[in-house]
Amino acid sequence: MTQENEQVGTEVDWGWTELIYSRTDARGVIRFANPTFCRVVGMEMDALRGAPHRIVRHADMPKGVFWIFWDRLKQGLPVAAFVKNRTMSGDYYWVFAFAKACEGGYLSVRFRPRGPLFETIRKEYEALRRAEREEGLSPEASGKRLLKRLEELGMEDFEAFMSAALAEQSAMRHKALGRVEQVRDRTVRELIGRVDKAQGIIDDMAVGFDRIRGEPINMRILSGRMDDGGMAISTISQNYDTMASEMWEDLAALGAIEGSDLQAMRHAFHQGHFALMIEEILGDAADALEQEAGAFDGDLAIAADVALLRDMVEEAESFARRKVLRIIQRCRLLPETCRRLRRKINGLDVVKLLCRVESGRMGERDTGLEGIIGRLDDFHSDVDRQLDGLSDCARQITSDGQALLLSSNSPHNPAPRA
Ligand SMILES: Cc1cc2nc3c(=O)[nH]c(=O)nc-3n(C[C@H](O)[C@H](O)[C@H](O)COP(=O)(O)O)c2cc1C
Repeated sequence: MTQENEQVGTEVDWGWTELIYSRTDARGVIRFANPTFCRVVGMEMDALRGAPHRIVRHADMPKGVFWIFWDRLKQGLPVAAFVKNRTMSGDYYWVFAFAKACEGGYLSVRFRPRGPLFETIRKEYEALRRAEREEGLSPEASGKRLLKRLEELGMEDFEAFMSAALAEQSAMRHKALGRVEQVRDRTVRELIGRVDKAQGIIDDMAVGFDRIRGEPINMRILSGRMDDGGMAISTISQNYDTMASEMWEDLAALGAIEGSDLQAMRHAFHQGHFALMIEEILGDAADALEQEAGAFDGDLAIAADVALLRDMVEEAESFARRKVLRIIQRCRLLPETCRRLRRKINGLDVVKLLCRVESGRMGERDTGLEGIIGRLDDFHSDVDRQLDGLSDCARQITSDGQALLLSSNSPHNPAPRA
């Protein structure tokens, strides 16, 4: 079986609830492989130990994927990806693989993937592999092209892709295992729903702000057409413009720009959620290894790997807790920013009132001021309502976060910890 024999062989039918585990040295040479790995790939355990991991490399896999894979591992970051592997008989099997650094090298846990995102990625890989051949893309150029494609597919970066893929694959795995949704999983799901809702409110506010920014210009045009009262309207419009710009900055700090409160919360959420899902898979891998060792008829020195996996479960759990704390801390800033915005809206109300006085002075004449005032009225009541909605979201996010810190019903870490 050569590496160029593509699209041959059939897919291996391995269990939806099984896990493939391996640990390598720093260069990717296999140091430990579990019996499921040996069975699926069709190799004796002794032969697999000591072989480079690329022994299962399938020629259909784009080089760019491994470029991302190693780039992250070398930076000390975890990585998750869909990988097509080959067996020793020339068949193939797909995995959803999670890998991270451990003492002396790296470890990886994989399970069988399915679902819409998996199907999308399969097609992306095919296109990328073709581009590598036809355009002679380097692994780095190919990896970067994949990152760009993921962005076009709505995943802002590789972390967002990993989060989405892991969420889809974990849900599929739960189904296969008959595992019901835990309270903690539901809270996490609700939490991101609330962060999304807050982001939606801020996006709507940004649209309203953008629209209202044209009004001071309308006022100035109007003032130019008036012989009396023109000066007053022009001054009012300048005040309105200045105050609205200041509010725009507050809004940006809330959620409309990189590094804003909402974006920081969303980032912390993705990292925390990812850690929680990984915690479960690593814990499952430790359980599976123990069970396999019992059934395995040979020498399987698993104690060190089980301990390694259990340590990582703990590590993932405390990482997730730190991220939840970060969400709560950022969330505490939201009500103050909302109050600041509300004070400014009240200031704008005074400007609007002056507009109304001027309009009254004009009497019956149709100056167009009434139309502007009507639109300002609508804008102000929209912002009022949106700020209320945002404060509600902030309260709920804080209470979800606190509930998460208090509860720990992970299957591998059942005792709540302070
Ligand atoms: C922990 C770990 C797990 C890996 N798992 C796989 C795998 O399942 N399939 C695979 O093709 N490469 C895997 N690799 C990457 C290989 O080492 C190798 O980079 C890849 O097969 C591409 O080979 P190439 O760089 O020689 O083209 C893994 C590496 C590590 C460190």
